[in-house]
Amino acid sequence: MSARILLLPGDGIGPEVTKAARLCLEAVGAACGLSLSFEEAPFGGAGIDACGEPLPAETLAKARASDAVFLGAVGGPAWDGGAVRPEAGLLGLRKALGLFANLRPVKVMAGLEDFSPLRAERVRGADLLIVRELTGGLYFGAREEGRERASDTCVYTRDEVSRIASVAFEAARGRSGRVTSVDKANVLATSRLWRAVVEDVAKDYPDVALDHQLVDSCAMALVPHPARFDVILTENLFGDILSDEAAVIAGSIGLLGSASLGAGGPGLFEPIHGSAPDIAGQDKANPAGAIASAALLLRHGLREARAAELIEAALEAELRAGPLTADLGGSSGCAAFAGRVAARIAKDAARAA
Ligand code: IPM
Ligand code: MG
Repeated sequence: MSARILLLPGDGIGPEVTKAARLCLEAVGAACGLSLSFEEAPFGGAGIDACGEPLPAETLAKARASDAVFLGAVGGPAWDGGAVRPEAGLLGLRKALGLFANLRPVKVMAGLEDFSPLRAERVRGADLLIVRELTGGLYFGAREEGRERASDTCVYTRDEVSRIASVAFEAARGRSGRVTSVDKANVLATSRLWRAVVEDVAKDYPDVALDHQLVDSCAMALVPHPARFDVILTENLFGDILSDEAAVIAGSIGLLGSASLGAGGPGLFEPIHGSAPDIAGQDKANPAGAIASAALLLRHGLREARAAELIEAALEAELRAGPLTADLGGSSGCAAFAGRVAARIAKDAARAA
């Protein structure tokens, strides 16, 4: 099998964690006989600096021609007040590639409950998947921006809700078989449509249990009872907020990866943390989220489940063994941690062969 992977290191700690992910992809490629080729392109603030725009046309063309896209992080104070923000590149890329389904798995690994700021008994066994709609809602509605008045518009269509709901129900089938659809149907018209469409889609999945929860109540329940959730299905902005909340339950936003998938073209894989400009370039970032995203790239982007499992097992083992990065109270550098994961991938693969 051969695949072309486009790397978009981006801004802040993006380049460091991208290097870490690439190292692990190379290790697993060598171990599993996958021929992975890598190319890099400017994106986000780095795109603005190099080409005057956060999503240069050439970067988008390369993304379209690739089998999967890996993104480090975008944004930072360096581009505040500019004509266009680095984040616009990310939104543009999601839209251009039709990446409507964002999967954000949050798992508290057995024995690693102490990473969580919550008590171990509260988070033990938590294993949830946030399925976030990614190309609709407030992020992409008509916008007006003035000094005295501004507005954002939230629009959802039946088709948009239906296709993301199907992704959530399919995912639930491979897990504990429960979907919690999160909305604000007591206030918003889009949420009432959302709820009705999700009910319709649910008829095709009689084996999956569905419940609906208001977003404020879900935000509250996630903290004391994270292990009660399985698949959380929600719209763009609610998913953005709830996924950061859920991430911190696992201990650090630096631990989690994500997959953004569309209707058949290349997917986009990125850690859910931001560009962390305060620690950029200091080898302090936690590469775990990037490495977890590399595993998602293999599983969802390239359909290489065994390679994905090899990365996940090695990552989990190194998180258990330590030393860890500073966000988890350790003193390891980003590169050293990634190096240990890559070495373990090679060792585990050799043992299994
Ligand atoms: C995320 C980020 C982005 C979002 C930003 C950078 C535009 O917070 O991927 O969660 O809001 O979608
Ligand atoms: Mg976010």
